[in-house]
Amino acid sequence: MQRPIASIDDVQQMLAAQSYVCGRPLATVLFLALRLGRPLFLEGEAGTGKTEIAKAIAAALGRRLIRLQCYEGLDAASAVYEWNFAAQMVAIRAAEASGDADRLRGDLFGPEFLIERPLLQAMRPQDGGAPVLLIDEIDRTDEPFEAFLLEALSDFQVTIPELGTVRAPEPPIVILTSNRTREVHDALKRRCLYHWVDYPDFAREIEILHARAPEASEVLSREVVAFVQRLRGEDLFKKPGVAETIDWAKCLLALDVLTLSPEVISDTLGAILKYQDDIARLQGMEAKRLLDEARRSLEPV
Ligand SMILES: Nc1ncnc2c1ncn2[C@@H]1O[C@H](COP(=O)(O)OP(=O)(O)OP(=O)(O)O)[C@@H](O)[C@H]1O
Ligand SMILES: [Mg+2]
Repeated sequence: MQRPIASIDDVQQMLAAQSYVCGRPLATVLFLALRLGRPLFLEGEAGTGKTEIAKAIAAALGRRLIRLQCYEGLDAASAVYEWNFAAQMVAIRAAEASGDADRLRGDLFGPEFLIERPLLQAMRPQDGGAPVLLIDEIDRTDEPFEAFLLEALSDFQVTIPELGTVRAPEPPIVILTSNRTREVHDALKRRCLYHWVDYPDFAREIEILHARAPEASEVLSREVVAFVQRLRGEDLFKKPGVAETIDWAKCLLALDVLTLSPEVISDTLGAILKYQDDIARLQGMEAKRLLDEARRSLEPV
């Protein structure tokens, strides 16, 4: 059984045990979300650890993680529940064949024909307690769905006309994320505690790299992080996130690279930059300039 979370330090420690490096501001808002039972709304650049935090919390608390991946056109049927039409048809055919069709009518809308989607699943606690509900990339849905979600989050209950109302005995721990491709409505934000997940500073990114790619040497880790941090200061179409830093370090390890050089950077840019225009800019002279700057920013280990 998980011991109760009594402080912000507890939050940081439990996440550290999941290899998640959590700064004080994020740990504070998380602590409050858990303590007050409020949804947590995380906004930030791509690859800064928003989705991962829900996974880490679920693992740390021993709760089930339920993920609602948002996309344009997501509707209630895919988010809450739908009837298993194919299974209902099979049951009808079978009943007709055995002359039992009348008896079946009431059973067609029973639990065995119900497909539970994430929001309904999240109403069902398991042994460990209420699950963690991750509503990922909410900015990809449309406004009607957002309004629907607002309602679902306010009372944690779902009404299925044929079956009745399902109410969560204990509200799930809700984490919403957004990449801010559009602004999410104020009404929804108001229900939540909010935190902007920024790119980590040098020291924190080193810590993350140690946690996620411990095989990388101190020298290589520092060079990689210093370079990526410089890169984020450039005018790029898409800046590299923490995910890219980790990926890149792993690529360099796989190539037995001990220390960066302009050639190595050029050859492996695809791990950190995902747009050809950005890659083209960085190849050659730019990579050398940034590497020199990054090296200068590093104090001797
Ligand atoms: N603070 C952190 N501690 C440990 N690992 C981290 C941290 N931040 C990011 N990572 C690593 O970066 C990877 C990407 O993080 P994640 O997928 O959560 O980013 P995201 O913010 O959800 O990105 P996107 O907006 O693209 O979905 C994770 O798999 C994790 O390994
Ligand atoms: Mg994500």
